[in-house]
This record gives sequence, C-alpha cells and structure tokens, in this order.
Amino acid sequence: MDDDELATLLANERYPRSARYSIRWMVDNAMGPNPVWLAEALTQVMPLEAGMRVLDMGCGTALTSIFLAKEFDVEVWAADLWVKPTDNWSRVAEAGLHDQVHPLHAEAHALPFSERFFDALVSIDAYHYFGTDDLYIGYYSRFVKPGGQIGIVVPGVAEEPETFPPSHLERYWKWDFCSFHSPAWWRHHWQKTGQVSVDVADWVTDGWHDWLRWNVACDRDRGEPGEEAAMLREDAGRLLGFTRVAAHRR
Ligand SMILES: C[S@@+](CC[C@H](N)C(=O)[O-])C[C@H]1O[C@@H](n2cnc3c(N)ncnc32)[C@H](O)[C@@H]1O
Repeated sequence: MDDDELATLLANERYPRSARYSIRWMVDNAMGPNPVWLAEALTQVMPLEAGMRVLDMGCGTALTSIFLAKEFDVEVWAADLWVKPTDNWSRVAEAGLHDQVHPLHAEAHALPFSERFFDALVSIDAYHYFGTDDLYIGYYSRFVKPGGQIGIVVPGVAEEPETFPPSHLERYWKWDFCSFHSPAWWRHHWQKTGQVSVDVADWVTDGWHDWLRWNVACDRDRGEPGEEAAMLREDAGRLLGFTRVAAHRR
C-alpha cells in the first residue's frame, strides 16, 4: 500500500500531536496497536514538562520515547527486554535525538536505575506483561521521586469477564489475555498498596475502534488478513479496548 493511502486510512483527529509523524514509520516499526496514539492518549491525562527525566518502560522500538522527547522536550530512558538497544539507537539517531533518548536493555524486575531518579514513569502496551503482580508497583514506584507521575496504557477489558474465555470471543481468545484488566481493576490493584495515589483510571475513548482500524490497515499493508482484526470486529467494543491509568507516588 502506498504511504498516502495508509495516511488516509489512519487519519485520526483524536491525536493531533501524533499526526505530525509519518504513519509509515509507525506501521513499519509496530509491535502491536499504534503506540504513538496510545502515548498521546496517556499524555492527555499525565502532564509532562520540559526537562523532566522520563522512563519509557517496555518501549519496544522506542517510537513512544522519540514521540515524548520531541513533543514535550523531556529526556527519555528507553528501556526494553526484547528489542536491542542498538536497534533503537538507530531510530533515535535518525530522529536526531542522540542527547535526549537513551536506549538500554532492562528487565522490569531488575531495573538498573537509582531510586527516585525519574520525574515520570511511562509504559505503553507493556506493563501488563510484568506489572500484574500485587507487589510490583511497590518496586517500580521507587524509581520515581515522591510525588512523581506513573502512567500506563494497556490492552484491557471494559469489565472483568465472569468466565474465561468470554463466550463471544471463544474462537479468538489466547490464554495470556487473562492479563487484560478493567480500569476499576487497575485502580484497586495500585491503590490498595498505599504506595501510589491513582488520579485517573479510565477507558480510552474509541480505543477498540482505533485498534481495529490500525490492524485492518496493517493487514492490508502486509497483504494478509489478521485474526486480531476479526476478533475486534466480532467484539465491537463490548469487552476489548485500552485501559489508561495515571497515578503519582505518595
Ligand atoms: C507489545 S510490546 C510493546 C512495545 C512498545 N511499548 C509499543 O507499544 O510498541 C511489549 C514490550 O514489553 C516489553 N517487556 C515485556 N516483558 C518485559 C519485562 N519483563 N521487562 C522489560 N520489558 C518487558 C517487551 O520487550 C516488548 O517490547
């Protein structure tokens, strides 16, 4: 598919900052739903200020790290397990952000940072892989200064299903979707520890629809239909979407 067609298919008025970036860059470096849209959704409830030190935890291909550095003039540590820092460094250099984005390899349970080092911790489409343990937020929040911000956007469910797999999604369900949780679940999960105060735990507006549009466009670009698009179409926003949580360390 040519770049203009892709840009037309994926135009999204909800995310004007994201619209300044090449949609081809986003599609070619994607690991899942468009992380740049999701990062912008998070920053709508998590104000970042110039000069802040930000951890982008589970940054994948570092698109969100580049986006945050450019849009908010923050300094970003782009930490990931599966994607090599060398690969991310190429994208960072191409974006001209050598001094502002620092790629590194990190496992979420053994973070190589000083406690209280960051002003904000951000994680897009990654925290559900390592953060559903009750005790994790107590560990993770140590790396932000007291009063500092912590925000995530993760694939989620509007409400916790009563049965697994949910009957209308039985043919598509993968076992690890059990880590998808509702805004209410995440609020309680963090708040009960007393380590953070949750400011916002909500559902990204039209998240499922953007997720479907994204998958349809990526599938067309690749030239093969994907099962995830079929699942999202079948669900039609009843259960699946994105949970957004913004909190601060007590
Ligand atoms: C679906 S990808 C999303 C990447 C990127 N944030 C994005 O939205 O495009 C999930 C990311 O979580 C990271 N991840 C999963 N488990 C992790 C762990 N235990 N420690 C650090 N990163 C982890 C992976 O390396 C992967 O890049």
